[in-house]
Amino acid sequence: MRPGFAQAGRTRRPSLHDLVRERLKKMANDPSENDPGRNDPTGTDQSRKAQEKEAAAQASLRFVQEGQIVGLGTGTTATHFIKLLGERVKNGLKVRGIPTSERSRQLALSLGIPLTTLDEYQEIAVTVDGADEVDPQLRLIKGGGGALLREKIVASATRKLVIVADASKQVSRLGKFPLPVEVIKFAQELVAKKIAALGARVDLRLGTDGKPFLTDENNHILDCNFGEIDDVDGLARKLSDMPGVVEHGLFIGMASVVLFARGKEIVELRRGT
Ligand code: 5RP
Repeated sequence: MRPGFAQAGRTRRPSLHDLVRERLKKMANDPSENDPGRNDPTGTDQSRKAQEKEAAAQASLRFVQEGQIVGLGTGTTATHFIKLLGERVKNGLKVRGIPTSERSRQLALSLGIPLTTLDEYQEIAVTVDGADEVDPQLRLIKGGGGALLREKIVASATRKLVIVADASKQVSRLGKFPLPVEVIKFAQELVAKKIAALGARVDLRLGTDGKPFLTDENNHILDCNFGEIDDVDGLARKLSDMPGVVEHGLFIGMASVVLFARGKEIVELRRGT
């Protein structure tokens, strides 16, 4: 646990800005801090994952039907889906997309996928999105790409949420991946302290420019490392009850189908079956 948040009263607690400075110093001294391939020097793992992501995205296309409103997820796996959907649209498929982020919106526009909004349609037939972790009850951690708020809103309006992922995302218990929590800036120190008191190490997410990452809704993200979470539903309730938390990355009871690609095989899991 980050000492400053845990040991209230004895020394001055580092603020999130202290933590940002500390992280920047670490990155400057050790550039591999920010290198996703640092434990995979040959890149084999990364290229296997990339192939699995594309295979899972490919498998999700059969859930999309002519004339539907389709939620477009965010992240590298969802990007594969959007590109594949773009090809189908070029070949005549008629759908309208509702993107879960500005990035996905730009990508869909560049591919000629017609878009609409939640103002026009409050019911989405199918959404295809990625996830950072998926447990056996198909509960998810999402938000690694910073789009959890719009992703959850779109998911909540979706009849069938299809999650596409490489095999590494399948876990027996959630929490190894730090849980993203979107907070309004005004409350971030207070919320960080409250989440740390629940047992997490809390880091303010930084962008590639070293400044706090800004979501599409202009909020910040706290990455909360709980380790394996004992009571996922209880934690979700506690986070939702904290004033200043805009949304958290636990998606419970939302995914209908998860498509994991393991090598060339696609494993399909359905909720409640
Ligand atoms: C973005 C997300 C992504 O779906 C999640 O981070 C998975 O990303 P990727 O497909 O790149 O592994 O929740 O907010």
